[in-house]
Amino acid sequence: MQRDIQEVLYSEEQIQAKVKELGQQISRDFEGRNLLVICVLKGAFIFMADLVKNVTIPLDLDFMAVSSYGASTKSSGVVKIIKDLDVPVEGRDVLIVEDIIDSGLTLSYLIDVLERRNALSVTVVALFDKPGRRTVDLEPDYKGFTIPDAFVVGYGLDFAEKYRNLPFVGVLKEEVYS
Ligand code: XMP
Ligand code: MG
Repeated sequence: MQRDIQEVLYSEEQIQAKVKELGQQISRDFEGRNLLVICVLKGAFIFMADLVKNVTIPLDLDFMAVSSYGASTKSSGVVKIIKDLDVPVEGRDVLIVEDIIDSGLTLSYLIDVLERRNALSVTVVALFDKPGRRTVDLEPDYKGFTIPDAFVVGYGLDFAEKYRNLPFVGVLKEEVYS
């Protein structure tokens, strides 16, 4: 598996330090409130698990799975809800936990859905951001790392469902996906 990685972008230690920082920042900013944390499956599952361990305010968790149609390394902009939330978001302070923002289409769709369901507030934390590929005007409220336009795997992120279990994040060798 490690042989398919061209370059490690962020080590396990670097990611853990950043996730801790994000958790502490969110805890401070939402002091006295009660968050509904939404994990966008599957890519954000490890990030969410590590993040909430560093959040010190009360919170509820829920999961949502979406898919964007089209090629596996590109988002087509057509988003479909594969698994919806179990709980209503009306009147809740919602925190969307995303692995990575690329075009921004998935996230803008999700924000729209949650706002139409009358969430009190919708906040976004993304571990990775590829601003160079944005097609919609969207900035996460909290962000871990800004990365160049390369397909990355590990720490929850996959290529064809593989590599999610790597504790670091790296760039896949082009020969693996071409
Ligand atoms: P959009 O374009 O809607 O895409 O912002 C966001 C979703 O696309 C996936 N994505 C990636 N997955 N490595 C991955 O494993 C990547 O480099 C990558 N870039 C985008 C991801 O599922 C994200 O939620
Ligand atoms: Mg994926």
